[in-house]
Amino acid sequence: MLTIGLIGLGFMGKTHLETYLRLEREGLPIRVAALCDIDAEKLEGRSAGGNIDTGGAAIDYDRFAKYVSVEDMLQNEQLDMVDIALPTYLHKDVTVQCLNSGVHVLCEKPMALSSDECDAMIHAAEKNGKQLMIGQCLRFWPAYEYLKAAVDEGTYGKVTGGYFFRGGSTPTWGPWLLEKEKSGGALVDMHVHDIDMIHWLFGKPEAVSAQARNVIPGSGYDIVSAHYKYADGKVVGAQADWTLQGDFGFEMSFRVNFERGNIVFGGSGLRVNPAARQDSLRSFPRIWAITSS
Ligand SMILES: NC(=O)c1ccc[n+]([C@@H]2O[C@H](COP(=O)([O-])OP(=O)(O)OC[C@H]3O[C@@H](n4cnc5c(N)ncnc54)[C@H](O)[C@@H]3O)[C@@H](O)[C@H]2O)c1
Repeated sequence: MLTIGLIGLGFMGKTHLETYLRLEREGLPIRVAALCDIDAEKLEGRSAGGNIDTGGAAIDYDRFAKYVSVEDMLQNEQLDMVDIALPTYLHKDVTVQCLNSGVHVLCEKPMALSSDECDAMIHAAEKNGKQLMIGQCLRFWPAYEYLKAAVDEGTYGKVTGGYFFRGGSTPTWGPWLLEKEKSGGALVDMHVHDIDMIHWLFGKPEAVSAQARNVIPGSGYDIVSAHYKYADGKVVGAQADWTLQGDFGFEMSFRVNFERGNIVFGGSGLRVNPAARQDSLRSFPRIWAITSS
């Protein structure tokens, strides 16, 4: 049985809580024992924020021990791990504090705001012999997992090029998101997902070039377009933009081209378009859709 303390009950912390509770219901040996947030309203499930309807079931907040201080929670609870869904500028300090107290840590992405901070987190995990995992969730997303398998197994030949996008309307909850020193802007907060994906799929690039601009005062780079250079000449680019006006909502998408087909993911699911007349591919439907359900 893994006993969990969840720190930060904003948009993402609430989403994590709903997921843990679903896993509990499905019989996994986990139990959320304690919640921590400086905002007492959040500990009762009010005003979580966020722009995605997670559609979660009603939560019985009475069953949890509740804390407004991380220190108090660590002292009073017997936890195996904590889940840190705090604003990014707090990731390093709270991760190191929790690792030093002897618990495993799952910390939301982006890991931290500088390489030095990331190194300190890794050092604390190693020093204490504890696990540290960062919430790079695309690695567990069915469409991206399918893409990873196709790349690794060469199902459609070698990759010739790819394009990745992530963006949406400007986040309005948690005002820290629009302060460059606290979130890193869209470049760090959003683009990090596609950077991680490109690195996971294709390895470390030889070079990176990017064009980016600030639109919202004080928020860092709000729009970024980057190219990732590889020795085999594949053309890989990615964009992030959190200034999309109107009713755009949120979108993540990719289009990866292979020697013998392409894989496209977007709002309507995953499409696999293998090239015609490939004997080895005849068993695949021309269009195959995966939804995230
Ligand atoms: N994996 C993903 O796709 C994904 C998506 C959204 C956000 N995130 C990440 O999750 C993290 C949280 O983002 P969010 O949108 O949920 O932010 P948020 O502002 O909605 O929530 C942060 C919560 O932390 C609480 N808090 C702040 N300081 C605290 C402290 N000292 N002690 C205890 N609680 C404190 C706030 O009261 C708030 O409830 C960020 O790092 C963000 O980048 C990841």
